[in-house]
Amino acid sequence: MWDTVQRGVIIFFRICRSLVKLLVLGISRQMFRENNPLTRLILILIACICFGELFIMLLLPYIPQLPELEIAFLDMFLLSLIVIPAVSWTVTRPMNKSLLELAGAIKKVSVREDEMLASLIALARQRDSETGNHIVRTQQYVSLLAHRLQVDGHYVDQLSKQSVAALVKAAPLHDIGKVGIPDRILLKKGHFTEAERTVMKTHTLIGVSVLEAARIDPEGYGDDNVITKAINMAGSHHEKWDGTGYPHSLAGQAIKLEGRIMSVADVYDALVSKRIYKKSWTHEEAIEEIIRGKSISFDPLVVDALIIEQNSFKEIALKYQDS
Ligand SMILES: [Fe+2]
Repeated sequence: MWDTVQRGVIIFFRICRSLVKLLVLGISRQMFRENNPLTRLILILIACICFGELFIMLLLPYIPQLPELEIAFLDMFLLSLIVIPAVSWTVTRPMNKSLLELAGAIKKVSVREDEMLASLIALARQRDSETGNHIVRTQQYVSLLAHRLQVDGHYVDQLSKQSVAALVKAAPLHDIGKVGIPDRILLKKGHFTEAERTVMKTHTLIGVSVLEAARIDPEGYGDDNVITKAINMAGSHHEKWDGTGYPHSLAGQAIKLEGRIMSVADVYDALVSKRIYKKSWTHEEAIEEIIRGKSISFDPLVVDALIIEQNSFKEIALKYQDS
């Protein structure tokens, strides 16, 4: 008699516990609609425990009297029989499917980005024909400088692995603003007049506006985005450390790091390359000139990186020299 009452009380409490859990489940129904995998997992666990407990409770009168430990193990075993397939079916499988879809979408976006970049780089190269392999060489110089700064622990907050990769990808676009410079100035064989030089300087601002136009959703781009890096580089690669550059006469670290790195790469390349109006300088002369401009025209840390990497600069200049 006492055993029957005890069993009845246990059943009563289990029913109450399950009802409370079902109530929580009902309140959470709205949350379930949000389709958040973590919410879904929690709710599925609660539901499984509720129905599992009900199921075990119904089985209880048919189970012979067992020690408490064995009852606990039986309880866990029966629950796991319900929980594992339920979680696998309702959470793991949809999550795996979503992850595969997400990976596919990221790959598609990456391919589109590469296609757009290739198109912009082709455009930039078209307007830079006079300087031949300038785009190829400066991209490699930028890569050397950025990796050296990264290895030496400088500007760590701006030179993450993703950031450096984006910076190197963006490098060929630094002079894309030349698309807006008239041929009579861009293709002029000889020195510019003051008026022509003023027009030529606008390639920085034109570059920024061209690249800004390529950003469909400016809010959706982070600092590690290739277009963001390209905008920073195009707009600031002619600024000087002492504030005497253009277009905004920015000084020191107010100049974007992308511009400070490209500035050294660009000037080195201009010095060692032959132009219609000047002979090519030797590698050693170019390095000495840039060292003279340390903390005047150039970021001192970037110049230090150049000094360390100068042999690689020389190799790249030789490998990709203009024919
Ligand atoms: Fe430029």
